[in-house]
Amino acid sequence: MDLGGWAFALHSKYGDTFEIYFGPIRVIIMGTPEALEKFYNPSMENKFSGRPKMNGFSELKLDNGIFFNNNLKSRRRNRRLVSQALLSAKFLHGFISNTQDLFIQAERYWTFGTVVDLASWSKHFLFDIIVSNSTGRKSNYVLAYNTPKSEYTPDMIKSNEFHDLTKTWLDSFPFFLMLPKFLRVYVPGINSLNKYYLKSAERLDNEILTEITKHRKQLENLSESQTGKPSLLDMLLTFNARNPDDCVVPDDYIESAKPSGYEEEPMKDREICDSALDIILAGTDSTADSLCNFIYNMANNPQCKKRLIEEIDSVFADDMTRPVKYDDLKKLVYMDAAIKESLRFSPVVPLVMRSVSDTDTLLGYEWRAGEIFFVSHYGLLNNKNVWSDPRKFNPDRFLEGLNANEKRCYIPFGNGDRMCPGRHMAITEIKTLIALLFRKYDIELVDKNAPLDYTYKGTFFCNKLLVKLNERRFEK
Ligand code: HEM
Repeated sequence: MDLGGWAFALHSKYGDTFEIYFGPIRVIIMGTPEALEKFYNPSMENKFSGRPKMNGFSELKLDNGIFFNNNLKSRRRNRRLVSQALLSAKFLHGFISNTQDLFIQAERYWTFGTVVDLASWSKHFLFDIIVSNSTGRKSNYVLAYNTPKSEYTPDMIKSNEFHDLTKTWLDSFPFFLMLPKFLRVYVPGINSLNKYYLKSAERLDNEILTEITKHRKQLENLSESQTGKPSLLDMLLTFNARNPDDCVVPDDYIESAKPSGYEEEPMKDREICDSALDIILAGTDSTADSLCNFIYNMANNPQCKKRLIEEIDSVFADDMTRPVKYDDLKKLVYMDAAIKESLRFSPVVPLVMRSVSDTDTLLGYEWRAGEIFFVSHYGLLNNKNVWSDPRKFNPDRFLEGLNANEKRCYIPFGNGDRMCPGRHMAITEIKTLIALLFRKYDIELVDKNAPLDYTYKGTFFCNKLLVKLNERRFEK
């Protein structure tokens, strides 16, 4: 069911805020700008920052990380340490160079004129990038994508198996969310699926927990001279070492061993494991689909595409192979504005789930504990009382600067206490890939008139985006 698109259609009929029913469950779709102060208030007292209680999710052991963790104290600690790692310069620089290395390998399968399904390709690519940078595991999923099965290397087979585990885990969410435990345990047929999902989730956990043990050992044995690209796990293990002697990390390996002011109870391995799984869950398709939306929006706005390419050429000239550096990305200001506009115009997360933990008032109404809300990002990012001509794709609005109301409603990554901790990583990744793609290829949609093909799966999931990668012609 396309809940995201449906909610947006209902906005034009019923206004910014309205209620819908899923059987007996009432859900409030909230798209009123004034409500954001409550939902995105970073205060510890905020009663609107939790997710709805989902009993089945604790069986999947999903609630010890960030996304589904409703324990305010541990969630905040996990978030802070994960954000500190993802934002560190060492991590971002390693991440850009990993993206580039993988792109060069994946690109070998293309020749000029190749037609690529960018939706599928980018999800394979991003899976490798997120898995290798968060867990340090080698991932060859995108290379397997282009290789006949009979020629798979052992690494490709392992990467596919790991991907299948994460996919089964994701597919099981609605099952655990919707079916009460007694049905899942006692009804024949359903109980075998229950067992299969739980077994598969356990295997996935074990893969990450094994990785944690391996990395802890590696960190203990790191020599002073070793430098490298630390993964998120390396950083979390270092931040959370119970005893300073547990992890002897050379200074230049991770710039600061512990975030300043860090004096909380260290994360347990279970919490590190769940936080890493949250990153894989939240970071892969969201980034891939935002890239697809960007390419689609550029193709439909040739003037914007022209300005984008001119800017890319001003940074790279006609050098299609030199490494893309963090400093290059900083110079790409039009690209930055166009990405921001694309995230506003076609947000991949149209609705964000919230629940109120105790009776409270909002917009003049009193809400009982447990009331479920969907903050309508799509509605707010396209609200005609906030944005001038919201359905016009116009990156210039970001170059000219947003007014206070637009700033308040610019929430493709949320805001406040639960704001997306991967936002810099996502933007850095998208920018790097756009630079790598557009500096070398003239990208053309195969079907120029087709609407974007997507399914709502909690995010807008792009099913297919066929593009032709033509050779670029540089004027002499
Ligand atoms: C363009 C890509 C992305 C978009 C549009 C996006 C958007 C969002 C949004 C709207 C939320 C919900 C905030 C809320 O509940 O208020 C969120 C949460 C989250 N995102 Fe992202 N995200 C993206 C990429 C990433 C990446 C790359 C990562 C990890 C590296 C990531 C990790 C997370 C996590 C862990 C949360 C849960 C935060 C919490 O509940 O405290 N996201 N993201």
